[in-house]
Amino acid sequence: MGWNDWYSAYCGVSAQLVEETARDMVADGMAAAGYRYVNIDDCWMAPARDSAGNLVADPTRFPGGIKPVAAYVHSLGLKLGIYEDAGTLTCAGYPGSYGHEAQDAATFASWGVDYVKYDRCNIPYADFPGESQQAVDASLFTRMSNALKATGRPIVYSIVDPDPGVDSWTWGRTVGNLWRTTPDIEDNYGSMLTNFEGTVELSSAAAPGGWNDPDLLQIGNGGSTATEYRSEFSLWAEMAAPLIASTDVADLSPAALSIYENADVIAVDQDPLGRPGVAVSSAGGLWVMTKQLTGGDRSVLLFNSTDTAATITTSATAAGLRRAAGYSLLNLWTGDVSETGSQISAYVPAHGVAMFRVGVQTRRALSGLAPHTVLSLAAAEPELNAGTTTTVQESFTDQGTVAVKRLRLSFFAPRGWLVKRLGRNHLKRLAAGHRFTVSYNVTSPATSPPLGIASLSGAASYDPVDGLSDSSATLDEATSVPVPAPFATANVTGRDASFGASNGSLAISAGGTGVFPSYEIQPATDSFAAIYAPGGAGPSSSAQVTVTWDPAGGIAGSAGLIARNQMTAPSGSGTAVVLYLSSNSTIEMAWNAQGGPDVDTWFQVPKVYVGYPVTLRLVRTGNTYTGYYSTSHGTSWTLVRTVTVAPSVSAATQDVGAFHASGLDTWVTTATFQDLLVNGVELR
Ligand code: GAL
Repeated sequence: MGWNDWYSAYCGVSAQLVEETARDMVADGMAAAGYRYVNIDDCWMAPARDSAGNLVADPTRFPGGIKPVAAYVHSLGLKLGIYEDAGTLTCAGYPGSYGHEAQDAATFASWGVDYVKYDRCNIPYADFPGESQQAVDASLFTRMSNALKATGRPIVYSIVDPDPGVDSWTWGRTVGNLWRTTPDIEDNYGSMLTNFEGTVELSSAAAPGGWNDPDLLQIGNGGSTATEYRSEFSLWAEMAAPLIASTDVADLSPAALSIYENADVIAVDQDPLGRPGVAVSSAGGLWVMTKQLTGGDRSVLLFNSTDTAATITTSATAAGLRRAAGYSLLNLWTGDVSETGSQISAYVPAHGVAMFRVGVQTRRALSGLAPHTVLSLAAAEPELNAGTTTTVQESFTDQGTVAVKRLRLSFFAPRGWLVKRLGRNHLKRLAAGHRFTVSYNVTSPATSPPLGIASLSGAASYDPVDGLSDSSATLDEATSVPVPAPFATANVTGRDASFGASNGSLAISAGGTGVFPSYEIQPATDSFAAIYAPGGAGPSSSAQVTVTWDPAGGIAGSAGLIARNQMTAPSGSGTAVVLYLSSNSTIEMAWNAQGGPDVDTWFQVPKVYVGYPVTLRLVRTGNTYTGYYSTSHGTSWTLVRTVTVAPSVSAATQDVGAFHASGLDTWVTTATFQDLLVNGVELR
């Protein structure tokens, strides 16, 4: 456990930041909670080695070098980590350890370094003809491993080599103490989910002495909700992954700090048995995980990776506990303790978790505990057109070994919604193991934004054993206003997407990796959702839209304009051109110059970063397309570029419209637009 500067400071790391963070970690309780390593990432070095070939710290940001920083961190009872690379240069372009392994290891040891994060950029594969990337990487990481061991100083060795095919978890155990399993984590739910899914399947590789590393924790950096950050922390703990906070500790909110300092969840992560959790089931994105703990308890994690709240259920025996009269459930996020005869269940919000420490109990111990109950809401349709009606069921289940009494359910919808209860909502007594359900007809307001979310909520009050208890549940119901003709919608993402349009505003909620040429190891993609004008892009035509918001991620998360022979054709059917605002706030175009199955060429307006709103305009003349953008609602336009696409992907009649892709397959986000205009026809 520890801290790393990368996702808050990037190349701005300094002695001052490291020392301040160490002080803050002591002051705010993180050190006491177990965070021990204070780790410096890339960019700490001067651009060149000294005349003797030694690494030197950047003289401005580390005026006294690394040694005094290590001494200071040690004086606070903490440990210091540093970053290097197996190649000729680090990922950010500073001197790498290639050919200097022994010298650099000795330098680190002499400075008092306790942890080395070792990366895999800029490895000179030409020096190893005929060898696979995996073989070269394993031997270079082993070189540094041996060099660190030879110093005689105990140094934790972190292997960073998540490139596909290198599989460092297969060779890392004899070389280092942790190994990255997945790509660099971004501060968004989709990236977190990708890294979780890519690591959980490798659980058998991890055991005391060597751990799977799904990358640093982004908790507190602002790109995810509190629910999502609690999931990140819980999932990492359940996988027995390193808990390394990569955030500005001085600036942590009390809410984020309370996640980092949840002692019960930390105890699951750090349990001395060192068994990573395994999946019991994951059908439909509803995960049940169980982790064996010292003393016979299990940590049972219910994770709803989907975009809709859902009830997730397992049983104590399915989670690996022995058959018994009953079990205690400590809810690790609420602190509540309850008892169950067998079922372990929770109504879990979209992207959220419920996490329990489950223990076998005697009948006598159970009698002092309240029964485990679950209140849930489920709508017949998860998405509702404005002004229409659906049925919502509110269910209360008693999963304990005793009955609950005086049960009363209630239900609330936001202003403008109509609710009609369809049956009675109270019961004198609900027997153990039974469920009580009340149904409601709910009608959404006739006027609403293109895509909206309404929080429907339920509450239960009941008498568990003695005294009144209550619980609540919420369901986020999506509403949409259908896109009017002659416009249509297309979804080429492979998972659900939603569309809405009202009063000139548009919204597209979708995942998808975007429309992008092949990049490094990633193949080209056509993965997006669109609101478009069928046949709108004739040989002499234009389309225009204003992007008002887009929380994109990945390399090609985007919102903008797209022209395609047939918008609904599956991925790999060719796309003429896209013009968009990318996830890093640049204006880009990608197009199909060769006529293959995907776009093959890409252009980015250099050094221009724009915010919202930005208006995009795409003008077609034959098989050339010219992109423009405007940050003044079309008062003045800047040329992006004129591009020529292959004749095969620029049919005489094409579809054109607004598109959105979140940037990640695992993540659905909503982009909003205004004023889609195709050949002078506006979507209203
Ligand atoms: C990446 C690594 C990141 C960070 C960065 C520094 O390759 O995965 O965690 O260390 O390099 O340049």
